Amino acid sequence: MKMARLKPPAALNMPIGEAMFSQRAIRRLDPDRAISDGDLKLVLDAASKAPNGGNVQPARFLVIRDRQRIAEFGELYYEAWWAKRKDAYGWEPGHDIPAESPYRMASLMADELRHAPVVILSFGVPGGFAGSVFPGVQNLLLSARALGIGSVLTTLHPSVMDRVNGMFGVPSDVDFYCCIPLGYPRGNFGPTSRFETADTTHWDQWDARPPWAE
Ligand SMILES: Cc1cc2nc3c(=O)[nH]c(=O)nc-3n(C[C@H](O)[C@H](O)[C@H](O)COP(=O)(O)O)c2cc1C
Repeated sequence: MKMARLKPPAALNMPIGEAMFSQRAIRRLDPDRAISDGDLKLVLDAASKAPNGGNVQPARFLVIRDRQRIAEFGELYYEAWWAKRKDAYGWEPGHDIPAESPYRMASLMADELRHAPVVILSFGVPGGFAGSVFPGVQNLLLSARALGIGSVLTTLHPSVMDRVNGMFGVPSDVDFYCCIPLGYPRGNFGPTSRFETADTTHWDQWDARPPWAE
């Protein structure tokens, strides 16, 4: 394969700090606002620039834009989402998830994914591993954020993989990693909440805290 000589795209002018600190899971996507091919190329170019073991570049991305295909895939996504909840909690599809549960919004997206304007599936060809795919996925999410495009990293479930691979003609030796719906947000990017790094950082040894810990 040819190596691309890419210049930093002018459209990616959001400061990196703003992109990183406001990037978050956007699950309410505007079904009527299309994402341009140019912007899709841009986020995929950004993904291609990520670190990967030995520069083997095993990451592959399947972009689903056809509305009918997204609708069909959305059925499998819904099934996969509930299969994961059944494995973890014994919940059946349609289980009444409390409003305060972190799964509430995710379940609404399982209902709605069939209306997303774009879905990207990430894979790895043989010779690679997850650690060489997810840095590119993160670049994709951040560059989408910088363009004002919402995204959310999601997974599937083994029970649907043969059908997903069959639907898109994915070769059997290719590994699936994640599913990323994309669309302009209905709502805003909003704040995220994360643990303080004083509590997640160890300094020189495991039982010592960093200088900024109180
Ligand atoms: C490995 C992984 C799997 C995830 N799976 C799902 C999923 O199946 N459905 C979903 O809606 N969000 C999923 N997410 C998104 C997380 O729920 C989200 O990143 C987390 O709750 C933080 O959200 P925030 O960035 O909006 O604060 C996943 C994220 C990761 C990294």
